[in-house]
Amino acid sequence: MISVDLKSSSTQVDKYAPALAQAHTWLQEATGRGNDFVGWVNLPRDYDKAEYARIQAAAKKIQADSKALVVIGIGGSYLGARAVIELLCSNNYNLKKKDTPNIYFAGNGLSADSMQEIMDLIGDDDFSVNVISKSGTTTEPAVAFRFFKAMLEKKYGKAEAAKRIYATTDKARGALKSLANAEGYDTYVVPDDVGGRYSVLTAVGLLPIAVAGVDLDQLMQGAADMMETCRVPGLDKNPAWQYAAARNDLYAQGKVVEILAGYEPRFRFFAEWWKQLYGESEGKENKGLMPASVEFTADLHSMGQYIQQGLRTIFETVVRFGPSKAQLCVPYDEADGDGLNFLAGKDMDYIATQAMDGTLLAHVEGGVPNLIVRAGQINAYTCGELIYFFEYACGLSGYVLGVNPFDQPGVEAYKKNMFALLNKPGYEDKGAELRAKLGK
Ligand code: PA5
Repeated sequence: MISVDLKSSSTQVDKYAPALAQAHTWLQEATGRGNDFVGWVNLPRDYDKAEYARIQAAAKKIQADSKALVVIGIGGSYLGARAVIELLCSNNYNLKKKDTPNIYFAGNGLSADSMQEIMDLIGDDDFSVNVISKSGTTTEPAVAFRFFKAMLEKKYGKAEAAKRIYATTDKARGALKSLANAEGYDTYVVPDDVGGRYSVLTAVGLLPIAVAGVDLDQLMQGAADMMETCRVPGLDKNPAWQYAAARNDLYAQGKVVEILAGYEPRFRFFAEWWKQLYGESEGKENKGLMPASVEFTADLHSMGQYIQQGLRTIFETVVRFGPSKAQLCVPYDEADGDGLNFLAGKDMDYIATQAMDGTLLAHVEGGVPNLIVRAGQINAYTCGELIYFFEYACGLSGYVLGVNPFDQPGVEAYKKNMFALLNKPGYEDKGAELRAKLGK
């Protein structure tokens, strides 16, 4: 069960109750701005059960016939899967001895070196591809797909390659859907009413997550239970209300940067997912908290100085997990050359807890309010809870801020310029104008 501890946050949350009640109704009744994109609200209960079974069957097939899966997608079409796989299976997943395939994420940038590296790492291994794009027209994944499709076809021939390509896209529209139909790929649907950054619990996230061996039933159960918790209105009962209210209050106090802090290296990509969720949902109309992230204690030795004494425009949201699976006690050393025998026999978790508490006190005293999200032990169930908690709080928080949390009009600006500079048909005039600005 997730709880939010506001004791160290210097917030007055009660005044947000009316705005939260309105936002809650908009989400529950799908009557607010962007209401055609709130399909994720009931998704943990109302997901397509037949497709869910197909996802699990496809994951078994990929596990049996592939040593690697290339997951091609960008933004909301890959961050959720990567976040869950790293949190639950380790940030060193590909390096581990295991009976599930390596998973490589491609098409989330335009680096030739990165793409070549994935091809080299796959080498002669059997592999499959899951290409994910809701629009089916995004340049980065479409370019990457050309390379990996060609690699598959060269290795297996066109017909066998088609059996190793899994396309997750719109149910009817877009270039990827047309291609999938023409080539006979196994296809999965990004529901019309679920935007990319809210899509991790659809086929977008679930297929790669299942291939990594995660228990999908537990993940969905955690999300479903949190959905029920978040359905209950009231600041005293609903952790998403508490979090949404506190971060809006801190924003109103001039704390315009929210840093999500975790103490587990495997949480790093979950924070990347969270940054997209909140950044794309709230950063518009010249407002919104700037989401950032750190991994403690490592980043206490890089960002710690700034957090402690830099501009006082920051607050932290610290995600604390329950006890580690591994129990490691610090060894006794006869010579005690490092002077650490006062820690001998102490559990690493105990030491980490003192570090968390010490950091909390130092940062709060330094003018950095802290919100604590307690999330229990890391497992598929708590991961599902955490995903839904952050999604629901994000919808609430965006509405309280006064924006549409479900659009992303600003993402188009760079695409138009890139197309113009690449001389995409229809963009020629704009291309000449931009080249002149760049002095090229
Ligand atoms: O959250 C979003 O909507 C975006 O991040 C998209 O997921 C991202 O731009 C990729 O889009 P698409 O899935 O259409 O390729």
